[in-house]
Amino acid sequence: MQTAVNDFQAWSRERQTALELRLQEILPSAEIAPGKLHDAMRYAVLGGGKRIRPLLACAAGELADAPLERTLLAGAAVELIHAYSLVHDDLPCMDDDVLRRGKPTCHVEYDEPTALLVGDALQSLAFQVLAEHRLADDPARQIEMVRVLAAAAGSRGMAGGQAIDLDAVGKQLGAPELEFMHIHKTGAVIRAALRLGLLCGRTLDDGDDQRVDHFAKCIGLAFQVVDDVLDAEASTATLGKTAGKDARSDKPTYVSALGIPAAKSLARELREEAASALRPLGGRALRLGQLADYIVMREF
Ligand code: IPE
Ligand code: IPE
Ligand code: MG
Ligand code: MG
Ligand code: MG
Repeated sequence: MQTAVNDFQAWSRERQTALELRLQEILPSAEIAPGKLHDAMRYAVLGGGKRIRPLLACAAGELADAPLERTLLAGAAVELIHAYSLVHDDLPCMDDDVLRRGKPTCHVEYDEPTALLVGDALQSLAFQVLAEHRLADDPARQIEMVRVLAAAAGSRGMAGGQAIDLDAVGKQLGAPELEFMHIHKTGAVIRAALRLGLLCGRTLDDGDDQRVDHFAKCIGLAFQVVDDVLDAEASTATLGKTAGKDARSDKPTYVSALGIPAAKSLARELREEAASALRPLGGRALRLGQLADYIVMREF
């Protein structure tokens, strides 16, 4: 068991290190004008975060025999969208947070207009990465990557979920509405990460393709359920972001709706459902299963 854990850590670390190098290359140097914007973009993306979305892209890519280099770049594109969403999520007009990944948030370290532009520029850069490199054998699959990521980030994905989140402040949401909000604001980009990983490789048969997508939906929701639990239970020091913020901001979450024990058991149920979806894939889905365990058991 310990060996499996160590092996998973080594697998993750290797990819996190490689991803960091790709991101360093992709992000414009702060020496290039406009230096302040480029510096702030690098600040928001580099040297922090769990990089769970790129890891999911790599693990899905392994199922489709995708070259690692491709899945790293596809994962980098997803991480740029994610980093943009965090910079905007932290703005005073949204969650108004001062700490992210253990550092002052982008608008605190720089200023609000810069943070707004960092988000804009990171989003554009994500699509530039998808267009600039050969990431699939068939050009139609590469265009599908662009479509998938655009849809996941847009008004019927992450941005839409964020709109629902802002509108929900001060309200009590029922389970179906909470699920709708969470699968949009967080689940959509996670699901896209897996899809992009698959698209970097060979076509899976329809059954396997749907199994991975069902897995993706379960862990995408589980990820935000756990984020809600950690906000209520973990410390600011461990999280690297301000703890207890959801309750103070009167946000409806799985914790406010169900309480901590029921929210935790929902996360475990979702992990079970995710694991069942992968079972027919056998050992080929080892990394995805380990990532699902990590998502549910993580402490930050
Ligand atoms: C935080 O995402 C925001 C949510 C979508 C819940 P992560 O917990 O993946 O943040 P980082 O990337 O590790 O900082
Ligand atoms: C953020 O959800 C989701 C996105 C950034 C799209 P939260 O607002 O709960 O994320 P944290 O807790 O600030 O990381
Ligand atoms: Mg938010
Ligand atoms: Mg937030
Ligand atoms: Mg949160």
